[in-house]
Amino acid sequence: MPPPPHRQLHPQAQQPPHRSAVHAHSQGSTAATTTSSSSSSSSCSSSHSASQTRLSQISSHIMGSTSPSVFTAAHVAQAPEDPLFGLMRAYRQDPSDKKIDLGIGAYRDDNAKPWILPVVKKAEEILRNDPNLNHEYLPISGLAEFTSAAQKLIFGADSPAIKEKRVCCRPAFPSASPHSPVHRQVSTLQTISGTGAVHLGALFLAKFHPAQPRPTVYLSNPTWANHNQIFTNVGLSIATYPYFSAKTKGLDIDGMLGALRAAPEGSVVLLHACAHNPTGVDPTQEQWKQIAAVIRERHHFPFFDCAYQGFASGDLARDAWAIRYFVEQGFELCVAQSFAKNFGLYGERAGAFHFVSAPGADATTANQHVASQLAVLQRSEISNPPAYGARIASLVLNDPKLFAEWEEDLRTMSGRIIEMRKGLRQRLEAKGTPGTWDHVTSQIGMFSFTGLTENQVKILREKWHIYMTKNGRISMAGLNSHNIDYFAEAVDSVVRETTA
Ligand SMILES: Cc1ncc(COP(=O)(O)O)c(C=O)c1O
Repeated sequence: MPPPPHRQLHPQAQQPPHRSAVHAHSQGSTAATTTSSSSSSSSCSSSHSASQTRLSQISSHIMGSTSPSVFTAAHVAQAPEDPLFGLMRAYRQDPSDKKIDLGIGAYRDDNAKPWILPVVKKAEEILRNDPNLNHEYLPISGLAEFTSAAQKLIFGADSPAIKEKRVCCRPAFPSASPHSPVHRQVSTLQTISGTGAVHLGALFLAKFHPAQPRPTVYLSNPTWANHNQIFTNVGLSIATYPYFSAKTKGLDIDGMLGALRAAPEGSVVLLHACAHNPTGVDPTQEQWKQIAAVIRERHHFPFFDCAYQGFASGDLARDAWAIRYFVEQGFELCVAQSFAKNFGLYGERAGAFHFVSAPGADATTANQHVASQLAVLQRSEISNPPAYGARIASLVLNDPKLFAEWEEDLRTMSGRIIEMRKGLRQRLEAKGTPGTWDHVTSQIGMFSFTGLTENQVKILREKWHIYMTKNGRISMAGLNSHNIDYFAEAVDSVVRETTA
């Protein structure tokens, strides 16, 4: 097996090998921003590092140390702080009682408090009282009851792949009949939440994609910032396709389709299954069909990231529609699935990675091979996944009564967010705040791309103690009945102040 391309021989090459997909939209993408901020911070820190190195040399000399450092500060540049974690720190340090945190990527209740789902509390109680529970290792591929339930949840219990028993949860454990009309299989491994699932998929592509050089991974512009690092860290090249139209504050479908058509045949296309982060803009079902048609025409490989199933619309099937459609269409694809948001299990790191083989005579064997290699990658990275979150999700997913209660909890979370969207739009429109605000309700899920400029975001933070990412993204979960008036007043004031 050829090794993955190694692109980090020169310091310059440490920057993500970012190629922009054609359009001016692609300028100023998250990746470009990350690149420039990291290079300026590294040059600034290098003189500091040089004096530190000199200091440590003097102290080694005095101390008579015989063990000089290889990883000196001069050799390992200071990495820039993750912007989101920096934002959280700044929020915590702000003493104002008016402060609002709209950067958080976690659900908050109407009192701005973390919410443990009632059904999760019940499942925890069941676990606590289970006399057979122990702390043994899980298998490499995770808890079997969890992975099989995760498959049903994402692909649908009546998915062709599952119904015809063409699904395998464990490596080298074929369940498909080689005589079934269409041979297609799904391999599923439990992962360290959605991030671990994206990473496992990225690593698999970097090691096993047969094309040389490996295909470029196309990310939406903008995307969840971590996508850039996850794919570049395994040595894959990334590029962007236009996604968000600043003009309509909706989907730039023509730009997206054009870039996917122009991308080299066989590229990897990362798609957010629902509740696109950071924009909150999702394609309609008709647009998904157009996207699928282009991906088929260009033989691209769809890589779905699904971090918000059920959290977006409150309807699990609706939020998984795009994935199910692609499976029905016979694509070979993979899915990274997170249970962080829809179960409120953020820190428990429950997730799954699914690889669906394309229909064909070789599918069963191919899928087993994929599963076996995924297991080797998993073993070398984490050995086996954590048990607690998967046990909770598994109890709920496999019990019809608890499942129904979970759906109710999902509706509570998504419903509160939808109410906040309506409330914000209505307040801004009532005030006559310059601009249009219908996108606040047409966008979906945890985040809204408000259209506020970097300067407006800065004023909101400095004058009003309101914290959000500088691209104007707000977490709707940070709004509640106690702060929505204050927020609308702040936005109104800042927009007027900066719109001459
Ligand atoms: C698009 C997207 N993918 C993946 C994740 C991964 O989340 P986690 O690792 O917490 O499951 C997130 C979380 O914010 C996300 O927004």
